[in-house]
Parts: sequence; structure tokens; C-alpha cells
Amino acid sequence: MPSRRELRRCAVVGVAVATALGAGALAWSSTLLGEYSVMDMGGEHSSHAGHGVSAAASDPGARQVDVTALEADPDRPADVRVELVARQERIEVPGGRPVDGYTVNGTSPGPELRARQGELVEVEFVNESVADGATLHWHGIDVPNAADGVAGITQDAVPVGGRHVYRFVAEDAGTYWYHSHQVSHEQVEGGLLGAIVIEPMDAADAAASAATEFVALLHVYGGQHTLNGRAQDEHVAAAPGTPVRVRVVNTDQGTAAVWSATPFRVLAIDGHEVDAPTEVDGRRVLIPAGGRADVAIPAPAAREAVRLHVGGARSVLIGDPDASAPPAPQPDETLDPLAYGEPAPLEFDPAASDRSFEYVIARRPGIIDGRPGNFWTINGRMFPDVPMFQVSEGDVVTMRVRNDSGDVHPMHLHGHHVVVLSRDGVASSGSPWIVDSLDVRPGESYELAFVADNPGIWSDHCHTLAHAVDGLVAHLMYEGVTTPFTINGAAGNLPE
Ligand code: C2O
Ligand code: CU
Repeated sequence: MPSRRELRRCAVVGVAVATALGAGALAWSSTLLGEYSVMDMGGEHSSHAGHGVSAAASDPGARQVDVTALEADPDRPADVRVELVARQERIEVPGGRPVDGYTVNGTSPGPELRARQGELVEVEFVNESVADGATLHWHGIDVPNAADGVAGITQDAVPVGGRHVYRFVAEDAGTYWYHSHQVSHEQVEGGLLGAIVIEPMDAADAAASAATEFVALLHVYGGQHTLNGRAQDEHVAAAPGTPVRVRVVNTDQGTAAVWSATPFRVLAIDGHEVDAPTEVDGRRVLIPAGGRADVAIPAPAAREAVRLHVGGARSVLIGDPDASAPPAPQPDETLDPLAYGEPAPLEFDPAASDRSFEYVIARRPGIIDGRPGNFWTINGRMFPDVPMFQVSEGDVVTMRVRNDSGDVHPMHLHGHHVVVLSRDGVASSGSPWIVDSLDVRPGESYELAFVADNPGIWSDHCHTLAHAVDGLVAHLMYEGVTTPFTINGAAGNLPE
């Protein structure tokens, strides 16, 4: 309960802001959320353009499917089975000081999971002591909706003492990560996360991708920049001349830079292989919050090491484990994935789109649940009155994301990979740039496309989680899909 003094302070702030706004104050919305279903967000579903709602959606007798039924084949036995136990506890940070946070199987990051493409992964999640409840979301993996792990949409938060089973087929090879999607701005920052790598099915591909590979997971624990949970650099031993694949995972709240004095290649972005990647020399690679980049760097001659800077404060040293390499200044020039690698045909034709949506980000003062603030808006509307992007299975969807705010927003759509068609009107000219996490900088406008091939209700939000909790969240909803779960109700679901 807020104290009376806090309440009075809120009221005073409210008046002050309203006065400052003058007539604009009339545009204020003061929202009391209470318990709600994401299906009711946006009120009238008026935002779909072009093709109207299909007959099935308006016909009350039409088939409705519950999110919990959108699952992997329940009769198929699992190929990979893991138990992950979450705890709220003190985390040791080697090389730094301990912080209060969250662990998975006793550490943060939790264990690095591995599966081969095509395998069925089954994770039994146990919440031993996370007081607010917790879930696991599989960031970047196009899992069936029932396994998406979003509290209040695809499941209830798992209470202390509870368990929940996630099952999905690891269809796309690549570098991904998992994290809680309950009070995520706290639990992700606090370390309830880990990496998951899906290895290519084809052994030749796997061998060709690199002789040695290494996951470099970036996270900031209480202001300490870490690499795989340690406030230290990492050493990777590799034979001279062999390529080393470093899978950089940015689990932070902001963009991470990767660079080296030694030329390297970007093999994959957000798990998707780049076609014909060329050498990156004198440029840095920027990874949005939530995003990944796999880079290949050749190991140097005997008794030497090369340094790959990851995330500004840490490095991976590759080569002779006893050797070092001097730090290199961060280049000013940035690799532009819009024009990197060779073009290749897409699996669908974005020009034949069935739906097109706008996602315009700005901000405006208001009050949500008695909390005054300068909140994010989507298409001029404030959470939860934001657009619901409604699609039918099989639709080709285009979406224009425009950032009219002063901050960068790493936009993340669950359950789908989106291809970047253009930025500020400049068409993509390199390898198909396929992402699940995309930095949209102030003033930028991106045109994206994807196929609605994974029925469900999917979050589409900013991965700077402090922005998400302040309302930078919308949803993609397939016609005929419903959820029995609610946010802010008795189950205590607070996905952001
Ligand atoms: Cu990585 Cu909605 O999350
Ligand atoms: Cu943001």
C-alpha cells in the first residue's frame, strides 16, 4: 500500500504536470488497469488495414482455439530433456561483488542448453523460491504459442513450489536465449536467464561453421559488466588459423558493440545465417538488447592471441591461452546489416501482403494505476489502449515501425522472424536481414515483413524492459485464438 504521503506526492505531481501542459492536459489519460485480458487491449479491433476480418472471426460459431492447445505433438517423445530450477538468491560474480538476483540451477546465467535442429526439447521448469512467480520464454525461437512463457498470455506465472513443462521442436539452428517473462524488467535484469544453442541438423554444416565455438553471453549485474557471469575476460584456446565462432548474446537493456583489430565475419544475426558474409574491418557490429550475432574470427599464429571486444567492457581472447592482445579503440563506423552479404530469395513475397500495420512509437504524460509518468505510446495511444495487430494464419504481413521518440527501441516480436525490407526508404541490398530484435533509433522508420505461420497471441514489445513496463507493448493476435489467462488478476501475472 502506498503511504498517504506518497499518494499526496502523486497528486501534486499530477497537478504540476497538468498545469505545465495547459490545454494539452485534456488529452491525458488516467488508466486504472485492474485485471484484464490482452484480448481486450485496444478496444475495437479497428487497426487492421486492407482485408477485412475473415468470416470465421465474425461468426460466433467459428472454431476458437485456446493458446494452451497450440503445443508441440504431445505424443512425440522428447529428444532433449532438462530440468531448470529458478531461485531468488545472492549471485556470486567472479571478479566482481555479489548481487541479489535470480539463478537457474544455482548460477546466473543458467546452464547453456544445446539441441540439434529437429529435436524435441522438453524443459521442466521449477520455481523453488522466486517470490513473484516466474516463467521461461525462449527468445528468438519460434516455439508453439503454449510454450512461449509469457505470464498472463500463454500461462500463469509459476508460483513458488510450482512447475511448468515447455515443449518445442528446435526447428531453426542458431543462437538464442531463455529468460523469465514474469516481472521481466526485474527478473531478466536480475539474471533469470541463460543461452540456448540449436546446432544445425547437417553435420557438414555444423563442422563447416567452425572448428571451435564459444558462447559469449553479456549481462550487467548491478552495474557490473559480465561475460558468461564473470566480471572478467574469457580465453578460448584454438589452433593457429582455425576459425572460432563466437556466439554473442546481448541479454542487457541496451545496445552492445562488438569489434576487433583483427578482421572477422558476421556469420549469423539473431540465429539466421548471413549469405556470403564478407570481412568486417575497422567497423563495429551493434547488437540490440535481446539480439545475437555470431562472429567468426581466425585464431592467430602459435603463442599469440587476438582480442574480440564484446559489449564495451569485456573481451574474448582467442588463441594461445597464455598470450594476450592489446585492446583496440572502438571504431566509429558501424556495420550496416542492410547492405551486408549477398542477396538471396525470400521464402515469401512481401509485395503480396495481406495485412499492413503501423507501429509508431512516441511518448506522452499520463497516469497508469495511479502512477504518473511520461509513458510510451503506440500509434498515439497509451497502454492498454494500444493497437491489436490481428492476422489470419497464412497472411503475409508488412509492418512499418517508426520511432518518433528520443530513445532507441530494440523491438522484439515473439514467435516469428521478420525480414527487414527497408530503412528510411532505403531497400535492403545485402543478405536477407532476418531478425527478432531490431534497434529502431530516434527518427528511423523500418519496413518489415513476415508470414503469420505460427498461430497464437504474441507479444511485440521493446526489449529495454523498463520501456516495456511503461507500456511499450502491443500484441499480434491470430483470429480464432483465445487465452484464458489474465494480467493483474489473482494469479499475479505481470509479464513485463
Ligand atoms: Cu526476450 Cu518478450 O522477450
Ligand atoms: Cu524502448
